Amino acid sequence: MKTDVSKNSANNRIGIGLLGYGTVGKGLESLLTDKASDAFFIAKILRRISKANRSDMVESIEDLLSDPKIEIVVECLGGIEPARTYIIEALKAKKSVVTANKALINRFGDELDTCAKENGVVLRFSAAVGGGIPYLSTLIEVKKHTQISAIGGILNGTSNFILDKMERESCTFEEALSEAQTLGYAEKDPSADILGWDSLNKIRLSGVIAFNTWINIDSIPCTGIDSIQTKDVEFIQSLGYHIRLFATMIKTNLGHSAYVEPQLFNSDNAEATILSNHNIAWFTDMSGKHQALIGQGAGGLPTAGNILRDLYQIKEDAKGMLPEERSLKNIDNNELSHAYLVRTSKSLKSGFLEAITVFKWIQGNRIYRITKNIQVSRFHNLMHQLKQLEPIFYAGIKKKENQ
Ligand code: HSE
Repeated sequence: MKTDVSKNSANNRIGIGLLGYGTVGKGLESLLTDKASDAFFIAKILRRISKANRSDMVESIEDLLSDPKIEIVVECLGGIEPARTYIIEALKAKKSVVTANKALINRFGDELDTCAKENGVVLRFSAAVGGGIPYLSTLIEVKKHTQISAIGGILNGTSNFILDKMERESCTFEEALSEAQTLGYAEKDPSADILGWDSLNKIRLSGVIAFNTWINIDSIPCTGIDSIQTKDVEFIQSLGYHIRLFATMIKTNLGHSAYVEPQLFNSDNAEATILSNHNIAWFTDMSGKHQALIGQGAGGLPTAGNILRDLYQIKEDAKGMLPEERSLKNIDNNELSHAYLVRTSKSLKSGFLEAITVFKWIQGNRIYRITKNIQVSRFHNLMHQLKQLEPIFYAGIKKKENQ
């Protein structure tokens, strides 16, 4: 980055314009303050009108972008608008941009990356996946010397916090979600966390980095943990399993397969050991070598840590993160199948479920079933239909490391 030090007041440090002052924005401020950063300082913060109560806080994007001390804009607003418009304005004003906004990069990453290139600046989003884990930057490094064959893991800190807390404390789903919100792990609208959409955005974004391929998001089977109940967790524990929300994308002979769903892991699997708001994000290379990164996947300080990493990358002249060549494809899930655990009420009649059941337990008004292996996309489609009738719960049963 060509830093014009003459325009930076505070000891030649690079001025940051911060958009939003929520959990992550405050996390970045405290990282820069606590570490008394000799490289960056927050010059201005854009806040909502009624909340701009400090002399460094402004209420309009124009006031922030017109500050000549600001060379990099950090977007911590979340959501699509006004984040997208503000980022475009920042890029056109020749400011590089760092964001953790996975939903935005998923929908508008191509447009924003092009805009950055046209204006000779960069767009980085390391914190969009894995909270504080340097997953995307690791995938970029790994790809330089080997091909990646599969990626995946536990990519949502909120749902992991909920499932772990339900397991260890036998609390209700609602109690665990409320605590995750208080701790600043959940999205503004926690539906994205508990319905699997946040994991979906993260695996798809990781996929474009690992495989140069955007998978059509509507073609990826995705189910979350919204219908899980304390009794389900107890039953799963009685079978010797832990439950985690899992996401994966795998290179196949014809394209790429991917899905997001709760899965059961026995204690031989690393996923079973991931507690609290932590994530595990792994990749497998063509030789079958499997490597994983583990760390806090949500929260203000961890996420700000990855943002800070991007700031240093920009200072050191790093490029943007999206690969130059990118294609858009539909999913190819033909090769993927495994067994499922399904909980329904006794009154739900399904000939299909009955036909694929291998084991069945009746507990009061509930029926738990383990199915034979079934193709993932097909199973999700059928369960989606049954979910219209009642809030059934289902989870994949993990067999192999990369499925
Ligand atoms: N809500 C997200 C999570 C934040 O819980 O993982 C980090 O992306």
